[in-house]
Amino acid sequence: HDEMATSPLERARETVEYLRLRLPEQLAQPRVAIVCGSGLGGLAETVNAGVREEWQYKDVPNFPLSTVPGHEGRLIFSTMGERQVPVVILVGRAHFYEGHSMDTVTFAMRVCRILGVQTVLLTNAAGGLNPNYAVGDIVCLNDHINLAGLVGFHPLRGPNEAEFGPRFPPLSDAYDISLRQLVHRSWSDLRRQFPSSRRLHEGVYAYVGGPSYETRAECRLLRGLGADLVGMSTVPEIIVARHSGMKVLAMSLVTNNAVLEPAVRADDPEMQGMTREQLDAYLSRGKADHAEVIEAGKQAAVDMQGLVTRIVSDL
Ligand code: 6GU
Repeated sequence: HDEMATSPLERARETVEYLRLRLPEQLAQPRVAIVCGSGLGGLAETVNAGVREEWQYKDVPNFPLSTVPGHEGRLIFSTMGERQVPVVILVGRAHFYEGHSMDTVTFAMRVCRILGVQTVLLTNAAGGLNPNYAVGDIVCLNDHINLAGLVGFHPLRGPNEAEFGPRFPPLSDAYDISLRQLVHRSWSDLRRQFPSSRRLHEGVYAYVGGPSYETRAECRLLRGLGADLVGMSTVPEIIVARHSGMKVLAMSLVTNNAVLEPAVRADDPEMQGMTREQLDAYLSRGKADHAEVIEAGKQAAVDMQGLVTRIVSDL
């Protein structure tokens, strides 16, 4: 538990002051923030290399450190697209399962708000619960189920920071409709230029605390609750971004399909004749695995980066 003596507002102001003193005027007020999830940090290499400032999270005052392999920690200020939109890119994020407080997990969103960011674009790697989703598909979120939040692990728990937003913020319109329309338009344009079998969906993301992947029964529960995806990030950041009035667009990369079939019964006569090796092979089908998550990210990252670049240019 890393609760600190000063408020998130004070800490975010301190961080922004540090960054502003070191940023050229052209980059000091980014309009768009892009949070890159697992394996999706390649986007940081597609920005305008001519005007670019970069920090490691460890060198930025008050920034959390990620402890997960595949999650780097880099903060990049640059411009994107023909219109040179000033952006801040966050490669790597802090997760609740690492032991961080919700304040720490969402701290970067507060910094973005004070920097003057108007639109936040978040990406993540998620498990597909909707049987219509294939590994490598992209899902534009249109809603979420904040499972951890509903039972009290909520990023806005505690005294309300009125400078950021209201005590009881609505979330029924959290996922900006115009931005989602833009995603679909951009995707159609890109597909015309670069045909591919990858599909774009819209769906509901269930936020769970992690770090274990879900059991079969938990996957069926989440599917029954109306979720299309399951993951361990993004929702706390979205809530804090919406609390302070930033527009939100969030996209998931489906890195694996959650297993919805019930557990194999040990009293099933069909299993009796199998060797231990045959049983293990049978049971490991569809098992979630961090290496697989990273690998699917690599292959689809380029497509997702193309989509993000296009969206930012058209904002
Ligand atoms: Cl299957 N579950 C969760 N909670 N997070 C994931 C995932 C699954 N796949 C990628 N991230």
